[in-house]
Amino acid sequence: MIKLSVNINKIATIRNARGGKIPDVKEAAIRCQMFGADGITVHPRPDERHIKYSDVFDIKSIITTEFNIEGYPSEKFINLVLEAKPHQVTLVPDPPDAITSNAGWDTKKHKIFLKKAITRFKNAGIRTSLFIDTNKENILHATDCGTDRIELYTEAYAKNYKTNPEKAVEPFVNAAIIANKQELGINAGHDLDLTNLNYFIKNIPNLLEVSIGHALISDALYLGLENTINMYKREILR
Ligand code: PXP
Repeated sequence: MIKLSVNINKIATIRNARGGKIPDVKEAAIRCQMFGADGITVHPRPDERHIKYSDVFDIKSIITTEFNIEGYPSEKFINLVLEAKPHQVTLVPDPPDAITSNAGWDTKKHKIFLKKAITRFKNAGIRTSLFIDTNKENILHATDCGTDRIELYTEAYAKNYKTNPEKAVEPFVNAAIIANKQELGINAGHDLDLTNLNYFIKNIPNLLEVSIGHALISDALYLGLENTINMYKREILR
């Protein structure tokens, strides 16, 4: 069964607009899990403009599913993850001022750096995933980095799905076939939503997990969080 990990950064963004504790990210994580999410994802950025470093420990304390922390592996981030000990860490090459993740790793160029970080996480028993595009070289070099999984960066799929779904998914299918051969686990995320999720899932062999934030939290404004999570789960199952 493909897991739905709900990224709750947007909840923190709303909270931070006012300061204080409303909406409460810990409560949101509890409810996401209660309503059927298979995991919770957070992406603490260096300026803490969404999820704060302290949120990570609050949320960790109520996790009953799978906890995934994403981020750029700075020394501060690595220490946070080693202390929080999530089930999975997803390494993203985003600069501190990026609005959202906007590229995958060049795994050849950054191999030594990534290998070092991955070794530290694996020694601590934390599963690792690398956010990458569908480029074959990047997948092959990801294997050399020693990562357990890759997370396919699906922005291009979501964008092109609207005009030509078949063409949009093709590079991701090819990437998944390569990853399967390399025995890399496959996650996916970015701009997945209720319209494009099912087609992606149906076409990608051995997809393990999707990480969804922006569209899901936005849908929840109109449809309610419980209903929305159920709708995403239905798209995964149908
Ligand atoms: N995966 C990674 C690595 C991300 O950085 C993000 C966005 O924070 C997501 C998945 C989720 O993307 P979206 O918010 O578009 O669903």
